[in-house]
Formats: sequence, structure tokens, C-alpha cells
Amino acid sequence: MIFDDLRAIQLRHGFLPKAELRALSSRTQTPLYQIHSVASFYPHFHLAPPARAELRVCADMSCHLNGACDLRAELERRFVNARRGEVEIRDVSCLGRCDHAPAIAVNDHIFTAITAERGESLVRSALRGEELHADLPQQGRVACASDPYPDREKYGALRALVATKDWDGVLARLKEAELRGMGGAGFPTSMKWDLVRKQAAEKYIVCNADESEPGTIKDRFIMTHLPHLLVEGMILAGLVTGAKQGILYIRHEYHWQEEILGEEIRRAYRAGLLGRNILGSGLEFELRVFVSPGGYICGEESALIEAIEGHRAEPRNKPPFPGVVGLWQKPTVINNVETFINVPQILVRGVDWYKAAGRNGSRGLKFVGVSGHCAKPGIYELPLGISMREVLFDYAGGVRGGFTLKAFAPSGPSSGYLPASMVDVRLDFKELAEAGSMLGSGAIVVCDDTTCMLDMALNAVRFYRNESCGKCVPCRIGSQKMVDLLARWTQGGLPEAQYHADLHLLDELSLAMSQTSICGLGQIVPAPIQSVLKHFRAEVDAHVLQGKCPSGICFTAAARAGEANRVGIRP
Ligand SMILES: Cc1cc2nc3c(=O)[nH]c(=O)nc-3n(C[C@H](O)[C@H](O)[C@H](O)COP(=O)(O)O)c2cc1C
Ligand code: SF4
Ligand code: FES
Repeated sequence: MIFDDLRAIQLRHGFLPKAELRALSSRTQTPLYQIHSVASFYPHFHLAPPARAELRVCADMSCHLNGACDLRAELERRFVNARRGEVEIRDVSCLGRCDHAPAIAVNDHIFTAITAERGESLVRSALRGEELHADLPQQGRVACASDPYPDREKYGALRALVATKDWDGVLARLKEAELRGMGGAGFPTSMKWDLVRKQAAEKYIVCNADESEPGTIKDRFIMTHLPHLLVEGMILAGLVTGAKQGILYIRHEYHWQEEILGEEIRRAYRAGLLGRNILGSGLEFELRVFVSPGGYICGEESALIEAIEGHRAEPRNKPPFPGVVGLWQKPTVINNVETFINVPQILVRGVDWYKAAGRNGSRGLKFVGVSGHCAKPGIYELPLGISMREVLFDYAGGVRGGFTLKAFAPSGPSSGYLPASMVDVRLDFKELAEAGSMLGSGAIVVCDDTTCMLDMALNAVRFYRNESCGKCVPCRIGSQKMVDLLARWTQGGLPEAQYHADLHLLDELSLAMSQTSICGLGQIVPAPIQSVLKHFRAEVDAHVLQGKCPSGICFTAAARAGEANRVGIRP
């Protein structure tokens, strides 16, 4: 409940005054240090009065590829004479609008496809005290092939299951379908559900709708256009595992999706599909939405649990995994939005349909977000198993502006970058892993031939440095060390011996981080630079040894100033 209290205080004052925090501490009998430790963790809360116009420019992959650096520099120039406390400009991590880059937030309202003129005019509106209205990313419902109920009564899988109560049958079909988690790790869903089902304790179902990795926008689309499938998937999980409570954890930048889901949940309650007596069966499942207080780390499943419990979102040591010790120390199923919506599809249409829906041996349909330098950035629904070439050129319109493809990230910074020569790789768990990358969350980012890959590696590592929760040393210190190292490389002029020493240090650092970090964030930090060294080594050598950026991105005054001016995203 602490977040509701903190939000209410911030709404009244614009920040969290000390006196209010003290009053909250005595009202709730919570030590002040605990309240402060939570309030200071989340970027959403202000401990000091913010500027009248707080302008945040998304600095991450897709926005970076779409001119975010220049946009920020130009906006800083335009407000260089602003009085103290009037305008504050700084970077922010991915705002979840990667398909309409560059994105900014002005006083927490998100605007997309921003030019310096529009950014300036929004800031001036905020200074005049005018109400700002965020851009809505999509309007109207889009029909999706994943919907098993295009022209029939929704919640069919749930109705059938309530009648048969064949819980084992559901698990068997998910197992046969080989449904895997769509949040990044690809863990078999039936195993997770089965583990929770076997335990006698009280248990929970949690939907991870935090999607905050740069380039990841598919869950936003699913929640907008298929909210009924998500609600149904969560109820099915509850019934099969015996959990009576579900929590849909959504990132706070998704106001519109929060409203859509809230409406869908209310509709389901009215129709008797949720509550204490589902469709008159005596079965029970309650579902509510929890709005994230913010930060990429909240998407890590154990950090997400900590956030729901009202703590700092610091990942837990694992094992035990959430399936055994999860929310409130009880067994908990945590699945991604897209994982849940696959369940009713499989149950209604059958495993054979699911197998046939994919291509080349892969199964099912997949939502991917494509952003960066492509002609038609957006979210696409496609058969799993098709080639990246088809995704990029047939769906996303190819590289924009007559340029050619240089590289692509199959799934945001954590997948690293693959060169254009690998564009025939298929969109498939196994094939992408064999290619040294991953299917991840389907966040495809396209880089044209003007892109500097060392700059992109630095951009990705910076993102992780900014988003590290700081709990463990390898990640907290290692990510900063890696940023320092790469920033130095982009400035060139190192003797060869020093470069070799740096490469050795990078290998050691990468090994230490991947083996000793508590969670996946710290473990994946080395991936972007390792992939760039593997596929674009000559480009890195040119920077470091010859002081040359083949793409003309680094070695400019703006690029040199960049890191020095950048403030970490965390307060
Ligand atoms: C730093 C970090 C951020 C993550 N963010 C998300 C996220 O936003 N959404 C998500 O579903 N999974 C995210 N994950 C993966 C989750 O920890 C977890 O594996 C996933 O929610 C399980 O659901 P699935 O089995 O359906 O994929 C993240 C992992 C890490 C390490
Ligand atoms: S690896 Fe990084 S994000 Fe994960 S617990 Fe450690 S410091 Fe926090
Ligand atoms: S909104 Fe900028 S990278 Fe996602």
C-alpha cells in the first residue's frame, strides 16, 4: 500500500516533503528509514521539488538511432538561459514508445516522434501551467490472428474448463504444445504451472506486464487489442494451479492499457467470470491491477515481487524460485503477457493448430516489435520460425531512406547485435541461441549502414548501468567500469598495448559479471559489446587504434561531452 500513499502525497505536493514522510511513518507505524529507502529507489518519486517543466529524453536504442542525442542537445541549447527550477532536461530509460521514436516525457506525459520545435513548445506549455495531453500510441482495436474468438463468445476456454475441471488435461496440452515463456527466458510454461499446482499452500498468479527493455513494445499492443485473452489466460492459470488471487503488474507509463485492462476485468466480474463463484461453479479467482512504481529492474520476477510487497525492487537470490517461494513467500506463477494469451489459443484451437501456426518446426504465432532504422516500425504478429529477412523486409518495410542493413538486435540490448549477413536466421528459440543471440522478448532493432556499432554497444551498456539496482557489486561497479572502458574506446588514441590490456580486462569483467551477478541484468551487461567485438571488430580497432569512427558518429564534440553530462536514471 505504501506506493498508493506516496503517490497521493506526490500528487498533492508535486514531490515527497519530509514532513509528509514523517507523518506517513507515524500513521502507518513504519520506520522512516524504510519509507525513505523505498521512495528513494524508484525514479517516479521526487524527494525534492521538481522543475516546473521536467523534460526527459529517452536515450535508449531506438530513440538513440532516431536522433535522441541531437534532440537533447538542441533542447538544452534552447533552454540554456532558463531560470533555476524552471526547466530540467535529462535522459530517461526507454518509455515504451520505441516504434514512434524519439520519445520524450514532459512532467510525466509521454510524447512521441518529437522534433526540437515540438519539444520546446511542450516545455513552454508546461511553464505556462497548461494541461498536457500525452500522445496515444494507437487508436481503435486491431483484429489479431491470435484471437480464437473473432466472431464467437469470448472466454470459451474458461467456460469449457469450468465444465470439465480437467486441470491435468490443460497441463498436458501446454506440455504437448511446448509452450515457452515469452518474457525472455523461454522457460516451459507447463513445468512452472505444474510445480505451483503440486503445492498445497496459498498461491498467486502474477502477470509480468512491466516491459521496459528498449525495443520491447509487444505487450503494450497485446494489452490494447487482446485484453480478454490476457484476463482469460490468468484465470485459467489460477484454476489449474489452485491460486485464488491474480495480480497484473503493469508499467506505469501504460496508462491507456491500464484503463483497457481495468475495463476488461470489471466486465469479467460482471459476467461472473471472475470472483468467488466463477460461472456458478463455486471456483474462485480474484484479479487486480498493480501499477509499477517504475524501473527496468521491476521486470525481473523476484524484483517485481519485492515491489508488490512494497519494498525496493531488488532481486532475490535464487533458488528458491518464485514457483516455490514467491509473493508473500508463497508459491507464485509469474508469466509474461504473451505467454498467458497463448494458453486460451492452444485450448480452443488445439495443439495441432498451434504446431501448424508456426513455420519450419517452430510453434505458434509471435508478436514482435520492430524499431530503429526500419521503414515501417511497429508491432507485427507473425508465425514463429520465419526468417528475420521476412520480418525486416516483408513486414517492417526494409531499411528506410534508401540505406542498407548493417546490423540488427533480435531482442533489444540483451540479445547483442547480429550483422546483416545473418539476416536469414529464423525467429526461433533454438536457432537464435545457436547464432549467439536470443529470441528474448521479440524486440527487434534495425541499424542501417550509417550506424556506429561501438556507439550502439556503449548505448546498451549505459542503459544497464543506469538501470542496475545496485544490490550486488559485480553489476553495480562492473557496469560502470564497462561504460568507462567503452567511452574511452570511443575517444580513441590508445597505444596498442593498452588496448590489449583493456580487452583482457573486458573479458575478465564479463566473466565475473555473468557468473557472479545476482540477476539476469548484471549477467547480460557484457552481451552487446561481446557481440560487437565478434562481428564488428575492425570497427572497434579503427576507433581505438587509429582514432577513427568509420561511421562518423564518435569523435565529435557532442559525442565527447555525452557521458560527462549524463545523469544516471536513478535518483
Ligand atoms: C532485468 C530483467 C528485466 C525483465 N523484464 C521483464 C519484463 O518486462 N517482462 C517479462 O515478462 N519478463 C521480464 N523479465 C523476465 C522475468 O524475470 C521472468 O523470467 C518472466 O516474467 C517469466 O515469464 P515467462 O516464463 O512467461 O517468460 C526480465 C528479466 C530481467 C533479468
Ligand atoms: S545484477 Fe544488477 S540489477 Fe541484478 S541484483 Fe545485482 S545489482 Fe541489482
Ligand atoms: S521509447 Fe526510446 S527506446 Fe523505447
